[in-house]
Amino acid sequence: MVYLAFLLFFNLISCFPSSSHAQNTDLKLPLRAVNLGNWLVTEGWMKPSRFDGIINKDLLLWRVNESYFHLRVLNKQFVGLGNQGVKAVSNTPTHSETFQIVRKDDAPNRVRLKASNGFFLQVQSETLVTADYTGSSWDDSDPSVFNIAIVNTLQGEYQITNGYGPVKAPQVMQAHWDSYITEQDFKFISANGLSAVRIPVGWWIAQDPNPPKPFVGGSLKALDNAFTWAE
Ligand SMILES: *[C@@H]1O[C@H](CO)[C@@H](O)[C@H](O)[C@H]1NC(C)=O
Repeated sequence: MVYLAFLLFFNLISCFPSSSHAQNTDLKLPLRAVNLGNWLVTEGWMKPSRFDGIINKDLLLWRVNESYFHLRVLNKQFVGLGNQGVKAVSNTPTHSETFQIVRKDDAPNRVRLKASNGFFLQVQSETLVTADYTGSSWDDSDPSVFNIAIVNTLQGEYQITNGYGPVKAPQVMQAHWDSYITEQDFKFISANGLSAVRIPVGWWIAQDPNPPKPFVGGSLKALDNAFTWAE
């Protein structure tokens, strides 16, 4: 494991089917290797359909579940209810930093945000947003109506785990790890004359099985399997 931990800082791992990974004394050079990308670190461009199940593609909010979110702003604080209006109040989101996003039926980017006190947010001025709106119109001039603009479409591990949220992401990721690369693939690789694989992993694997949110645990076990298959 020392060897693993050291290499993790370089964000990739190599293992050698023709020899023990602890002692590469009988390593035959040159290696013929293949990169196993998009397995333990998501690379959206390789299989965009893995993102299809994310409801409304809400990739930039901190999803709690289907319609509840934490809103984190630039100083890494979470928005919640302050004494006077809505503020970035906390480093760790609790009930008072949880908002329900209510969408307009025929225009899902048009939203209203319901705070933990049961009221909707409304814009009072350029510097004040309060949680005290009770109306229900969707007019452009309505101070409680917001348009969500999706400003970037990164498709990495952070976006897929956050997008599916803490309930679904562990299931989606485990199903991916279990099926995307299997022992059969290692047999195929070996049978076709390759002697090494390169497996990119994320820095959060060092904290598996409890990586920081929104990442989910389980990739270390998959990597352990790869070492076994590579023997
Ligand atoms: C979603 O999370 C909110 C806030 O924690 C909770 O009140 C609500 O019941 C949850 N909804 C579902 C469908 O789990």
